Amino acid sequence: MSAAADALFKDIESQFLLTRDQLAPIIKGFIEEFKHGLKTPSKGLATMIPSFVTKLPNGNETGTFLSMDLGGTNLRVSAVQLQGDGRVDVLEVKRAATTELKTGKGSVFFDWIADTVEELITKKARHLFSEEEVSAKKTLNLGVCWSFPVDQTAVDRGTVLRMGKGFTLEDVEGHDLADLMHAAFERKGLNVKLNAILNDTVGTLVAHAYSNPRTRIGLIFATGINAAYPEPVESITKLSKEKRDSYPAGTEMLLNTEIDIFGGDWYLPLTKYDKILDDNHNQPKFQLYEKMLSGAYMGELTRLIALDFIKAGALFGGHIPEGFGEAWSFPTANMSMFERDTTVNREKSMEILSNYQFVNSPTLEDIAILTRICRLVATRSAALASVAIAAMIEQQNLHNKTNNDIIVGVNGSTYEFYPFMEERMHRALREWFGVELSDRIRLEIAREGGSVGGALIAMLCRD
Ligand code: GLC
Repeated sequence: MSAAADALFKDIESQFLLTRDQLAPIIKGFIEEFKHGLKTPSKGLATMIPSFVTKLPNGNETGTFLSMDLGGTNLRVSAVQLQGDGRVDVLEVKRAATTELKTGKGSVFFDWIADTVEELITKKARHLFSEEEVSAKKTLNLGVCWSFPVDQTAVDRGTVLRMGKGFTLEDVEGHDLADLMHAAFERKGLNVKLNAILNDTVGTLVAHAYSNPRTRIGLIFATGINAAYPEPVESITKLSKEKRDSYPAGTEMLLNTEIDIFGGDWYLPLTKYDKILDDNHNQPKFQLYEKMLSGAYMGELTRLIALDFIKAGALFGGHIPEGFGEAWSFPTANMSMFERDTTVNREKSMEILSNYQFVNSPTLEDIAILTRICRLVATRSAALASVAIAAMIEQQNLHNKTNNDIIVGVNGSTYEFYPFMEERMHRALREWFGVELSDRIRLEIAREGGSVGGALIAMLCRD
């Protein structure tokens, strides 16, 4: 490797391989933000949003329930059959939200959702519903998993806050999600009642509690990152005293932390690359922590670092390949391929690079450098995701309170499909908590958290 590459790696490693000393201020900062969010009303860019979910399933519940799950890319509408013993069966209709839908009129977007619900009830899962339900004579209950911030006022009411993930819908922010959905259902003649709104993190925690009732954290690590955990109602002082007193003493409520928007530059170790990414983003200064680590951004961070190597003449012979110079032109999925590619001549990686045009063909050394950059970015992502877990363990005092395993339900493509992510997260947790405690932290995959969680909360909150 060239001296220029060596020097650059040294510099970048010192910023991206976070040591215990560098993790400490972030964890402290997060815990301070938890405390602040617990007392600050959920307006505007809210954090620590109460879910009004105070019950967890025990795994024995049965029945068929509807759920809808909207994430950054896909809409899933499902009929979830709870079979008891922690087992579920899901039938879903899945649709991709196009940019046109994501950036257009709210009413058009919600009509599209209503059409998908109709398709599930009248076609795909027709056999699971009665004649009255299909012909809209009888009401069907729906749990809506909304992977965006919502200011919840009750389990089934909530004002849509700023959405992120490329959504800029007209006439949606500031409106009640239940009203927007019911209006669309009415336009389609559907008799569907939204009786639970939940963030995907809350859904993940609840869905995982169905198979492991000891779950104490729900983490999403996908396009975005966010987490939920139970907090004693008496500590959630942003709720009125009257509201808090209406729950039996000792009740815990799941909180959607919206940890994605945590992180001022006074404690996040933002690098020059994070700052460039943020400056070029259509929502600058928003979700700074999320931008440092989640699936939507890892590829772009890698590209920005690679550009510095190219400029120093240490990569691709010093020429920016055509197609590589534009922001967002290196998707995170490419990184997974590079890190996973064990072929001798790195054929898979070469194939990815063939999407760009080079002055001189890329060499094996180029690929080795690019892969090492991917590893650094992904290792930092893992450490930063673990920091959220560590902060929630400390906030709940789980590290002192129990000798049992600490169960974290994790959902999301970045966690599930990015190579070595789980190992890297464990390594960061070990760095922070030491071997003994970190061995008790179980990161368990909670698949279909949104759909199953939505159905479970719709069931738990039926009137
Ligand atoms: C974003 C959203 C948040 C969601 C997370 C994971 O950060 O703001 O509500 O939970 O992505 O999908």
